[in-house]
Amino acid sequence: MRALGLVASPEALAAPDYHPPHAGDLAVTGRRGKSVVILGAGIAGLASAYELAKAGYRCTILEAKDRVGGRNWTVRGGTTLTDLDGRTQTARFGRDQYMNAGPARLPQSHLTLDYCRELGVPIEPFINQNANALIYNERTGAPVQQARTAKADVYGYVSELLAKALDQGSLDSRLSGEDKDRVLTFLSGFGAIGSKADGYAYTGTDRRGYTVEPGAAGEAGTVLGPPPSLTDVFAGQVGRYVSFEFGYDQAMMMFQPVGGMDGVPMALYRAVGADKVRLGAEITKLTNLPGGVEVAYKDKYGKSQLVKADYCIATLPPHIMARIPTNLDPAIASALGFPTVTPVGKIGLEYSRRWWEEDDRIYGGITETDTDLAHVWYPSYGFHGKRGVVIGYYNTGGSANTYGALTPESRLERALAQGAKIHGEKYKQGLLSSFSVAWQRTPFIEGGWVGWPSRTSGQYDLLNKPAGRVYFAGDWLSYFIAWQAGAFDSARYAVTGLHQRVLAGG
Ligand code: ALA
Repeated sequence: MRALGLVASPEALAAPDYHPPHAGDLAVTGRRGKSVVILGAGIAGLASAYELAKAGYRCTILEAKDRVGGRNWTVRGGTTLTDLDGRTQTARFGRDQYMNAGPARLPQSHLTLDYCRELGVPIEPFINQNANALIYNERTGAPVQQARTAKADVYGYVSELLAKALDQGSLDSRLSGEDKDRVLTFLSGFGAIGSKADGYAYTGTDRRGYTVEPGAAGEAGTVLGPPPSLTDVFAGQVGRYVSFEFGYDQAMMMFQPVGGMDGVPMALYRAVGADKVRLGAEITKLTNLPGGVEVAYKDKYGKSQLVKADYCIATLPPHIMARIPTNLDPAIASALGFPTVTPVGKIGLEYSRRWWEEDDRIYGGITETDTDLAHVWYPSYGFHGKRGVVIGYYNTGGSANTYGALTPESRLERALAQGAKIHGEKYKQGLLSSFSVAWQRTPFIEGGWVGWPSRTSGQYDLLNKPAGRVYFAGDWLSYFIAWQAGAFDSARYAVTGLHQRVLAGG
């Protein structure tokens, strides 16, 4: 199958070819490890320091926040946030309860899993698709339904249509008789449609679900049905979320670190050494010099400080970096201002009862809505426990701005009112605590992620090259934007370039 190109090659699926800097590389060339100042202790900054330390480089990380991880942030009881509007929240989640406010799912193909393995961060499945999770389309007025029902109806009717078209000879110029038979066989299973004698009609099956589950003795169960008409199914747009699981990065299996996504930055932090990271360090100026770099910053006591190093790796978000005075070519600042910023919001709702499991039999997964909540996530940890944290919204763009503009109390009120339309009044009952983040209003980050209006107009390439002794890194300099894998791979790219330059005497 591989020879025919039918499955991805092991080379493509393996971790990308990468040779970490090695102390021996420097020894054979008679060179010493250099000093590197790294701006930002998010994944790209920590990974840069971690990789450079393998060859004995002396790294100092400057981080404006009072914690490492950047957007990789797990909120637990006691976690606080003061946003750019001066609103302070303190999470009151119970023991072992948390929300991953930033990244929360890891595809099998991503480098992040290789780092979890290397650093000993335990992982567990993250449930990204669940047939029992719901589809709620308010705008079309389709009845709220399980994902399995929507899928059964959409696949069923599409199969019926195609089978009829084949049978009527509409595609004869395209297909041989054998092709037709094979496609019909496939459609019969794919859509669970009737036979030729039944006109290939889709009439619904137990794939849609049951109103009464099958049981012992005489209880055969009652299938949910009959399906709505084809017109109603498509007018209701219940199939709009089906293609999500086809996405390369969103297909199961997916994973999460056990106990919170911040297991990743915390493991890097331990490996790098806390003494290498200066928290509360706000960069005020970056100067590229002929033989090194100079970074001025305000420390956590408000005192001005200066760090000199041979090189710099700048991993701040581009829109934040663009505001820092530097002596770099003005084209750099202009390129840093080029990506557009996406607002992103999440709210964690902690309940005293896991009603989604007990009442609705939803064990993890995502309910899709066309409201400003966008996506509602059920926890992929703590099954059958006493409490649980539901992500009441995970939204972007205009919806994220709508919620971000509200006080945390008003966000909660709105999220509960919207969620109750889907789950009923129990959505408002047994709520213990909540915590919300509007990334665009979060200090030193100011956005969920960025996008490039173009990657071919020069700016992307410019920033992927060193500017004197300054290298840039971050997910925004990769083709994995809004994924930690992008930050890891970009860090490797910067580190490799820097190390090769040092080996070459640069
Ligand atoms: N990578 C982000 C997600 O999976 C955007 O939601």
